[in-house]
Amino acid sequence: MVAPAPRWCTPVVALLPLLLGAVTALLPAATLHVRQHRLQLHAIGSAQPLLRQRHALGMSTTAAPAPAQLSAGENFNYWRAWWPVAIAEDLQPDVPERVELLGEALVLWRDSNKQWRAAVDRCPHRMAPLSEGIIHPKTGNLMCTYHGWEFDGDGTCTNIPQATTDAAAASRRACAQSVPVQIATGLVWVWPDTSPEGLAESKIKRPAIVADMDLPDYNGYWYVRDQPYSYDVLIENLGDPAHLPFAHHGVISNRKSGAPLGITMEPPSALFGPDAKNLHANGGYLSKPFAFMPALRDTPNMVMGFEPPTLFYYKSTYTGDMLQDVVRRLPLPPPFKALGRFMVGRDTKKNPDKPLHLYFVGYSIPTMPGKSRLILRNCRNFLTFLGKKSRAADHIRQHLVLDGDNALLHYEEREYDRLGVKDRLESSLYLPTDADTPVRAWRQWYQKNKIQWACGVEDRGGDKEAVPPREVLLERYHAHTKHCSACRAALAATRKKRKLSLGAAAVLLAIAAALPGGTRASVAAAAMAVAAAGASYRQQQHEREFHYVEYIHAMRDV
Ligand code: FES
Ligand SMILES: [Fe+2]
Repeated sequence: MVAPAPRWCTPVVALLPLLLGAVTALLPAATLHVRQHRLQLHAIGSAQPLLRQRHALGMSTTAAPAPAQLSAGENFNYWRAWWPVAIAEDLQPDVPERVELLGEALVLWRDSNKQWRAAVDRCPHRMAPLSEGIIHPKTGNLMCTYHGWEFDGDGTCTNIPQATTDAAAASRRACAQSVPVQIATGLVWVWPDTSPEGLAESKIKRPAIVADMDLPDYNGYWYVRDQPYSYDVLIENLGDPAHLPFAHHGVISNRKSGAPLGITMEPPSALFGPDAKNLHANGGYLSKPFAFMPALRDTPNMVMGFEPPTLFYYKSTYTGDMLQDVVRRLPLPPPFKALGRFMVGRDTKKNPDKPLHLYFVGYSIPTMPGKSRLILRNCRNFLTFLGKKSRAADHIRQHLVLDGDNALLHYEEREYDRLGVKDRLESSLYLPTDADTPVRAWRQWYQKNKIQWACGVEDRGGDKEAVPPREVLLERYHAHTKHCSACRAALAATRKKRKLSLGAAAVLLAIAAALPGGTRASVAAAAMAVAAAGASYRQQQHEREFHYVEYIHAMRDV
């Protein structure tokens, strides 16, 4: 539990962006060491054992092995990896959910033992999507709604209503293709390779989690959004902090902050030491500590890292003394500085030696060619009482951040595809500064490790024939709201309030009209009708935030 914000801190909440912005950059380098920045990861549990193992039915087009650590000449096997595909708290126990991964559709559903299950979203009878099915109210099995076949959590067919004997359901060909699934750090992870070798490997490998996030003193909410550009463009963007002041001006940064970043990568020899052996298996990479603000180049406290195939993260490390130093350097009037230092002291005095961390954790998921899913969380274990919001309000804010990217990246990828840039990056793009180092590192990895899409799915950069309107590129409902339990509830509540306000306005207007004109009562009723209509209008505007809001960079000069 996080302590509620004391009343005295309310005036300072407005200073939060400034405070946190400085916190991420202003810290003495002398107290930091590269090893401190490396994430300590551990596996959470292992794949649920399958009751029966079956051969893969054409899910993967590759037979490449997936060693624990790649060596020269080997390609990463995207099918032999744990992928996060959904946020556990957003799934509805009674409604199967369709997700996409590597060009294949999967269905997530919860069985009668309250275990989450995953299967290829294809009924073995006539290939209708099982995600259109129901959880049978009596058996708790997944029932295809086309002809009523039922499947248990292992994919075994338990009922064919049209069959006169049990032989039809007992056939191996009647089975749905189940997929290993597990929950870790609040996310649903699946392992797409269901070959016997793949299933064996699923029990050895672990999801790419950031274990700190499971600790109770960390704040933050998971967020998911489906993006109108590819997985590789998404990772390229996540590893590009130089775009923050410009693409996200007025939201999380400011154009005036654009400056040299001086990002360099750790040499490969540093990536496979004892601290990093999990994080950097499979050829991932880690930056040296760097700072956003050029004036503080001598105080780097942030690193970025990539753990193939899905995790990209930023981690900043602090101590209580460092935070005090940050507040000392803030351009604030003395009373606010004193208040800020008091708040930091109050937050850190119980355990002054506790390492303080601020994370951005982003998972990039290749759903279909030209499309991707992003699951992210920003979190920290200090000053968690500042800037607290509901999960839905936090997501509305996060939408604004991603809106700043979406049109840019979609059109960028169209040009990449048209001109064949992804296969010859260095000769096609001009990357003259250190700020482009992470882009180069990512493209070098990806050129050696192209995605192996599902059988029959051709990677042509997606359907780029028709230019989608901005309403599609910035669309929020199908990309997020319908997948998010908090936003579904917030949208329903907003609609209800809008209708109630509108109804109240109509009733009050009728009362005002019925009363003798000019009386206090009629004026009061008319005034209340106007107020209710105004409230209804505000709810209508709020509803739009769950669907679509235009984002024009040129008009964000705040
Ligand atoms: S397609 Fe599923 S039962 Fe016929
Ligand atoms: Fe949401």
